[in-house]
Amino acid sequence: MDAIECIKTRMSIRQFKKEPVERSQLEELIDIARWSPSYKNSQPWEIIILSGAKKEALSARLVELFQGGASPGPDIPEPQSWPPAEEARIAHLYKSRADAFGIDLNDPGILKKAKIANFNFYGAPHALYLFQDSSLTPWSLFDMGLFAQSFMLAAHARGIGTVPQAFATDYARDVKSFLDIPETKRLILGISIGFPLSDKNANSFRTDRADTKELVRWIE
Ligand SMILES: Cc1cc2nc3c(=O)[nH]c(=O)nc-3n(C[C@H](O)[C@H](O)[C@H](O)COP(=O)(O)O)c2cc1C
Repeated sequence: MDAIECIKTRMSIRQFKKEPVERSQLEELIDIARWSPSYKNSQPWEIIILSGAKKEALSARLVELFQGGASPGPDIPEPQSWPPAEEARIAHLYKSRADAFGIDLNDPGILKKAKIANFNFYGAPHALYLFQDSSLTPWSLFDMGLFAQSFMLAAHARGIGTVPQAFATDYARDVKSFLDIPETKRLILGISIGFPLSDKNANSFRTDRADTKELVRWIE
């Protein structure tokens, strides 16, 4: 698969086979993603990959916090509102996903189900967490996005599925304490990793994109 096909066919995977990905394959993905560009080549990414009993225990802790009504405290705050164009695209995503899966958007249990699925890393055998030092500026946050995309594209090229998850950072303080990461680090993103289940299921839904005409102004 060439780079263009890889970019265009990658999608978020939300149902995984139980079978773990070999350590050597996960190492290869990190080895590839580390070639991402970064501001002054500072490479601000710090990575944890969780598997097995430790991953299950963190999921159990996150679900327990959520069900106990703990207030989320992500290091990068969730947006409280969106500009109109972005808001419309989010509404479009929710509606198309609801139509595809027969979900009632007025069902108050939807968010709860979604959060629990996220905290369980969608059943994936591995969960990656990205951190960086909290003294870094938004330029370094930008670098983290580049790293995450390289990682997800490399995984896709090797037949491994991923989904980036802001929700997995809801209880940042607890995640850091569980992983023995100092409070001085900023939790950026979780990524579930595993082999995609390819039958008719969550993975059969593809998102679309705004037309290029909506995005670019050509000035001459
Ligand atoms: C920074 C970021 C945070 C995201 N957080 C979540 C999340 O918490 N849970 C989830 O299921 N998907 C999450 N996603 C996945 C997006 O919903 C998904 O990328 C988007 O709908 C486009 O679909 P695609 O990845 O299949 O192309 C996130 C994506 C990004 C880039």
